[in-house]
Amino acid sequence: MPLLFDAHRRPLRSLRLSVTDRCNLRCAYCMPEEEYRWLERAALLSFEELARLVDRFLALGVTKVRLTGGEPLLRRDLDVLVAALATKPGLADLALTTNGLLLAEQAAALKRAGLHRLTVSIDTLDPRRFEQLTRRSGHDALLAGIEAARRAGFRDLKLDTVVLRGVNDDEVVPLLRYAQGIGAEIRFIEYMDVGGATRWSRAQVVPRAELLATVAAAFGPATPLPDRDGAPAERFALRDGTTFGIIASTTAPFCASCDRSRLTADGMWFTCLYATQGLDLRGPLRAGASDAELEALLAPRWQARSDRGAEERLALHERAPFAPLATLQGDPHLEMHTRGG
Ligand code: GTP
Ligand code: 5AD
Ligand code: SF4
Repeated sequence: MPLLFDAHRRPLRSLRLSVTDRCNLRCAYCMPEEEYRWLERAALLSFEELARLVDRFLALGVTKVRLTGGEPLLRRDLDVLVAALATKPGLADLALTTNGLLLAEQAAALKRAGLHRLTVSIDTLDPRRFEQLTRRSGHDALLAGIEAARRAGFRDLKLDTVVLRGVNDDEVVPLLRYAQGIGAEIRFIEYMDVGGATRWSRAQVVPRAELLATVAAAFGPATPLPDRDGAPAERFALRDGTTFGIIASTTAPFCASCDRSRLTADGMWFTCLYATQGLDLRGPLRAGASDAELEALLAPRWQARSDRGAEERLALHERAPFAPLATLQGDPHLEMHTRGG
């Protein structure tokens, strides 16, 4: 039962917990630069600190936690954190979003530790294109990682594909067939002008309507499924029952039902993907704040929340990347890879 509602009557239900800002890929839509300013190591929250904060969020009505990065599997001993969180009463859903490269090594341990659900990013089936898009090698590791996740018993596996015009928009149908073949649900994501996407242009966005038309031309019309429940993906079914999703945050944002907030690996709490100001929780935590004091920081902040970042972006006449490079370099908290994809 949600306990807290914001200024638009949206409940606080979901927390995205970034466990590291580091990543082993450099995806063109997320980390296109040569160099990055990383969060200070000493500032990263320990597993104990993360678990303590999660407890405060659970006490305030959060029921869903998703571990993110950067690339979360780069955080050493992540399965230990998963095990600490998985048994918490009130946590109905514990999920993880990964680029998959380290999954072959870690899937079984994550499953044993009690992780409920996995989402793996896959933007292309072509290894050469993967290297162009991510500026790193590892397509074979990604496919092996997805296979290992299935073998480990992650049944409702989801795949995420950011579709970029002229880069991978010719792979919508092959990727959907691939997902169908392994029994995973793929979601096609519109390229978003988030912090870090410094090469974003409207011309490279493949809108929802076009994605649906491409799918319909190959598979027949897709039927919308009703159960969205605050999630960014609209879900659809093909005639044979295969389901897939579209995340249209650029042309049809879901701000009106957004119940999520995000915590960076150094303890800054953001109530919107596009928020420019976060609330520092590390300071009070390390200064010895009590549970009640921490909750008294969080609750009013959510209650005052009026963010509708993606809707505001949509209303802009001239749309350019969210933050210029110099601004991002001044504050890494504005980066998508810091605030958890
Ligand atoms: P499920 O609970 O499995 O539906 O997870 P999810 O779809 O929330 O998680 P995932 O990490 O797979 O997110 C998919 C994509 O949705 C992200 O990569 C973003 O492109 C987009 N997204 C996630 N969070 C937000 C958000 O707060 N606002 C907006 N506008 N888009 C978001
Ligand atoms: N647009 C859309 N999604 C993005 N992600 C990162 N950058 C962007 C962007 N500019 C999402 C992708 C990736 C996840 C970690 O973050 O879904 O799979
Ligand atoms: Fe790519 Fe995710 Fe790493 Fe960003 S954080 S570079 S989207 S793998």
